[in-house]
Amino acid sequence: MGKCGVFTRFEAESAEAFVACMPGWNAYLYEKIVFAQWRYRVEERCMMWLEAKRVRFRYHKKQEWVLRDFDFGVEQGECVGLIAPSGYGKTTLAMLLAGYLVPSEGEILLDGKPLPQKGVCPVQLICQHPERAINPRWRLRKVLAESGQIQEDLLVSLGIEQEWMERFARELSGGELQRFCVARALMSNPSFLICDEISTMLDVITQAQIWNRICDKAEARNMGVVVITHNLALAEQICSRVFDMTCA
Ligand SMILES: Nc1ncnc2c1ncn2[C@@H]1O[C@H](COP(=O)(O)OP(=O)(O)O)[C@@H](O)[C@H]1O
Ligand SMILES: [Mg+2]
Repeated sequence: MGKCGVFTRFEAESAEAFVACMPGWNAYLYEKIVFAQWRYRVEERCMMWLEAKRVRFRYHKKQEWVLRDFDFGVEQGECVGLIAPSGYGKTTLAMLLAGYLVPSEGEILLDGKPLPQKGVCPVQLICQHPERAINPRWRLRKVLAESGQIQEDLLVSLGIEQEWMERFARELSGGELQRFCVARALMSNPSFLICDEISTMLDVITQAQIWNRICDKAEARNMGVVVITHNLALAEQICSRVFDMTCA
């Protein structure tokens, strides 16, 4: 077993050469090799990185594993698409990466260390259903204030109107509320942002506006972004690589 827990660099390189010569090579093995090589590259370049390392997770003891020996990583400044059919564990992985769930086995590591237990998490998650992510009893000004200093320019760039700040979540549309979730996540200046099907229920104009802001901020702050989506066209447009969970 190598330093990264999957392969040593030599093993990874020779395995890739081996797999390349095999007719009908194994996609699972190939994904493991690609991951091992990615891992060495980020370590060599001293980039910040977030990874799920040999993660196993299930919600109940009698349940099948949702994720089994799962490896995934994203580095600073990178935008990775994550695709898989429904029920494959995308949301589960998103919650593990952001520290909302703890793996049954394996580790979630930020720069090789566990996620910090105190303070605002440097990995922020934006969920598919904004109404479930916002306290319904709080006015939106209070919701935002909880994440730090309100950045007026960010609110303007996301098309958030001042008047909405005094409303409750139920008094806004899904698209308007999702803008608040994006603003809240970006306001804490995260190192990594996990977007779990955040634009599925939005109209095309709102989708474009939100993704433009996220991409601008990610570039300006050198953030790592994971884009979980069913929309392969979106993933191919904004991501530098796309990870298919069905091969992992
Ligand atoms: N809270 C939960 N309790 C039990 N099983 C769950 C829970 N949440 C999700 N699951 C199960 O875990 C599997 C993966 O779900 P999920 O991560 O939501 O997949 P995806 O986001 O890819 O659609 C599914 O089989 C789902 O039924
Ligand atoms: Mg999901």
